[in-house]
Amino acid sequence: MTVKNQTLINIRERSSIRAYTRELLTKEEMDILKDAVLAAPTARDRQQLRYSFITDETIIRKIDARIFHYCDSAMKKMLRERNADSFFYGAPCAVVITGTDTSWSDLDAGIAVQTLAIAAQSMGLSSVILGMPRLAFKADDPDNCRELMRMEEDERFCVAIAIGHAATTKKPHVHNPRLIRDFN
Ligand SMILES: Cc1cc2nc3c(=O)[nH]c(=O)nc-3n(C[C@H](O)[C@H](O)[C@H](O)COP(=O)(O)O)c2cc1C
Repeated sequence: MTVKNQTLINIRERSSIRAYTRELLTKEEMDILKDAVLAAPTARDRQQLRYSFITDETIIRKIDARIFHYCDSAMKKMLRERNADSFFYGAPCAVVITGTDTSWSDLDAGIAVQTLAIAAQSMGLSSVILGMPRLAFKADDPDNCRELMRMEEDERFCVAIAIGHAATTKKPHVHNPRLIRDFN
């Protein structure tokens, strides 16, 4: 199948990039990403998600440290195999998506995070969606990073994404047509 539509090309070519150059995102790029995520729809237009755009390396390091505190040896081994020392893979920008705990927040967050991933791809940037940072936001952990993200009492971590300039390449996952059910 030949795809010429640029949006479809961006969807197809996005892959999880796990190494980044040190090049920062420009203010314009940050503004475009913020605008894109605000365009993501939410159930009943409740708009209860919060999008924390983090470029401060010390904050990323603090979140990382809390993830490391909880992650098991298998996760650490996986990181080593990826030649990484951070769950954000050295990306200059991380977006942490949090939301009040409704039955729709994870769905809303999933839509928002993919919106960011495709927006980044369309701008020549790369990304990786991240679930692991949830370990840094455990409500029962006195040293969690909730305050750092100015999270309200009823807010919880949904998902995160690291965005930056790729320092590596990776083919997207293999498409499996058997996942499609046709009803003709
Ligand atoms: C909800 C979600 C959570 C993920 N969490 C992580 C993560 O914490 N760390 C990581 O390296 N990749 C994470 N990934 C990336 C997946 O491993 C990746 O999307 C999958 O292997 C398919 O590869 P591709 O994105 O390159 O097509 C996550 C992806 C999703 C959708």
